[in-house]
Amino acid sequence: APDPFIEKLIKSMTIEEKAGQLSIFGDSVRFDGAPINPTPAQTSTRQQVYDDIAAGKMTGVFNGIGVEVGREMQKIAVEKSRTKIPMIFAADIIHGLKTSFPIPLGEAASFDPDLCYRTARAAAIEGTAKGIHWTFAPMVDIARDQRWGRVAEGAGEDTWLGVQIAIARTKGFQGPDIKADDSMLACPKHFAAYGAGEGGLDYNTVDIPETTLREIHLPPFKASFDAGAITTMSSFNDIAGVPSTGNRRLLTEILREEWGFNGLVVSDYTSDEEMILHGYAEDGPDVVVKALNAGTDISMMSHLYNRHIPDLVKSGRLSLAVVDEAVRRVLRVKKAIGLFDNPYRSLNVARENADIRRPEIVALSREAGRKSMVLLKNEGNLLPLPKTGKSIALIGPFGADRDNLPGPWTVFPDYPNCVTVEDGFRSAMGAGAKLTVVKGSDVEAPIAGGIEAAVAAAKAADIVVLHIGEAANMSGEAQSRVDISIPDPQLALAEAVAAVGKPMVVLLKHGRALELEGAVKAAPAILCTWFLGSETGNAIADIVFGDHAPQGRLPVSFPQASGQEPFYYNRRRTGRPQLTDDKNYKTRYREVTNDALYPFGHGLTYSSVSYGTTAVSSANLGWTGSIKVTATVTNTGSRRAHEVAQLYVHDKVASITQPIRELRGIKHLDLEPGASATVEFTLTPADLAFVHFDLTTAPEPGRFEVWISPSATTGTPASFDLAKA
Ligand code: IFM
Repeated sequence: APDPFIEKLIKSMTIEEKAGQLSIFGDSVRFDGAPINPTPAQTSTRQQVYDDIAAGKMTGVFNGIGVEVGREMQKIAVEKSRTKIPMIFAADIIHGLKTSFPIPLGEAASFDPDLCYRTARAAAIEGTAKGIHWTFAPMVDIARDQRWGRVAEGAGEDTWLGVQIAIARTKGFQGPDIKADDSMLACPKHFAAYGAGEGGLDYNTVDIPETTLREIHLPPFKASFDAGAITTMSSFNDIAGVPSTGNRRLLTEILREEWGFNGLVVSDYTSDEEMILHGYAEDGPDVVVKALNAGTDISMMSHLYNRHIPDLVKSGRLSLAVVDEAVRRVLRVKKAIGLFDNPYRSLNVARENADIRRPEIVALSREAGRKSMVLLKNEGNLLPLPKTGKSIALIGPFGADRDNLPGPWTVFPDYPNCVTVEDGFRSAMGAGAKLTVVKGSDVEAPIAGGIEAAVAAAKAADIVVLHIGEAANMSGEAQSRVDISIPDPQLALAEAVAAVGKPMVVLLKHGRALELEGAVKAAPAILCTWFLGSETGNAIADIVFGDHAPQGRLPVSFPQASGQEPFYYNRRRTGRPQLTDDKNYKTRYREVTNDALYPFGHGLTYSSVSYGTTAVSSANLGWTGSIKVTATVTNTGSRRAHEVAQLYVHDKVASITQPIRELRGIKHLDLEPGASATVEFTLTPADLAFVHFDLTTAPEPGRFEVWISPSATTGTPASFDLAKA
């Protein structure tokens, strides 16, 4: 039903004020670092910005923080602007504000939605303390190609896991009451299929059928909206030739008409204007007509809405009703978060510093860091290492490094409060630490004498810990890679250090799955450490020295070679799969098998765990029934184990061929040495559904396989038949 307050406000607004409510700009006034892609708006003087607010030319600003100036801006909006509509303050708070948490991909490796909820809640507490109402997160794009730099910002390659994490992060950011001072609006992005750019190339064209769009890419968005998100961001890419920002099918027919989404759509940064370069719009006015008619309510940064809406409406090229509807959506969101009742919500001077780096938030960062690491390999139980007795050489560009700790997409880094790996090791090893730290190489370039110094340190030590991988700026926006291996200078370092022959642990730093080669691949112990945020050094020390055991699982498959990308576990089989050693005319590469080096779901603990046979409670599942799937999991080692049991299904024959396996459930188990537990999942026909050509979602009767296993490629399936309706 129309909201009388909002309708009255709309009636009172000029067309210029309406255009202003649909325009957002970078916060040059409160930005505390170097502007990202500086533009005229970001280099405006404070007075220019204040004048524009008073003139009603902006609905809000983004990527600035600070309460005092935020209050000043809000005061101008509600006291000096004619409409008195409050501003909304946004920012990219992707994995924490001042206290940073693991990059979203790393945190997804926890396979722990509750953890994702808690870190998002903590990010919202810090974000709102600094005057932010709205985060441009979570990124819920499914990323099946590790060459794409923004893999780092999402939950990985799997849609089912992506859905659970999207729900958790949305609820975490927003909290139980979106009017509350510490609630930060979520903005699931980038709508849609931004992760499906051809070749893993950022901003690239996406050419997928709508069945795939709906099966793989849309579910995390729908889940986030169902969990309460009332904003989304249109993506840079086109889908089959139609840029998302001008895509009426996507932004109106699917999002609003089919899903009933009542919130607002903001464009990505100038993605409206980019429709000209796409070849979809002729000029500025054409952009505005196409974007607004498609359903993009707010234009980010381009200025085109302010510039052209008034004339377009006056000339009749753009309907006033379309503009009013976009304004209505924006005002509804502002009202929903309580800005009309209290424009100064989340601009609370008392909270500004008190709620930053609260001890429990810093402790949560360390916990999240620990739970995000994935132990790929641990031959001879090399890990954990002793804290005393043995000497350790910590070698590689990241041992003492601070610059890369917050990780990609950190707009407001707090470097001084980040714990380096060296610091973490020293505090774990105590006063008499026998630790030598040598850089050996820069990330992408050798350093003079670096290898010699590293080899000398390795020779003098009992154990080598090699910390190598990608720098933070190798992941993130516009950071696609053709080759996802560790840069050559670091590989040379690894070969030289490994040749010394000391036991060697590799700590990988990375924003994506990597191709591992040579001495790195052959190392007896390999631990994925992603970018873990503020508490990196402490979290890594917790695992390396065994105060805690690793429990993370890969949310992305590690290929054997970069050329396998896009590479994901839930692929289709083809008519010529290579199932035996017979290589003739099979789906295969000449150089490597089609297997992962480390599959999705893989991750070791410090104990050993075995899985019994997967059993089903019945060989027949009724169309409206359910069955139980069980397996016994046993800790066969001598340490406590935290295990993540995974449920996978496969539809053997279907009218659209189905992936070889698909994740449908996870269960976390804590097992004492020698203990066993029975894991039980319930499966219903809804878990077996897929998107059909007519775009309905339903299962098909027939034979299914089901696994309870520790990764996407292990175990022996049980089977059952789904009965006809
Ligand atoms: O939120 C981001 C988006 O993910 C990429 N372009 C810029 C936006 C605002 O900073």
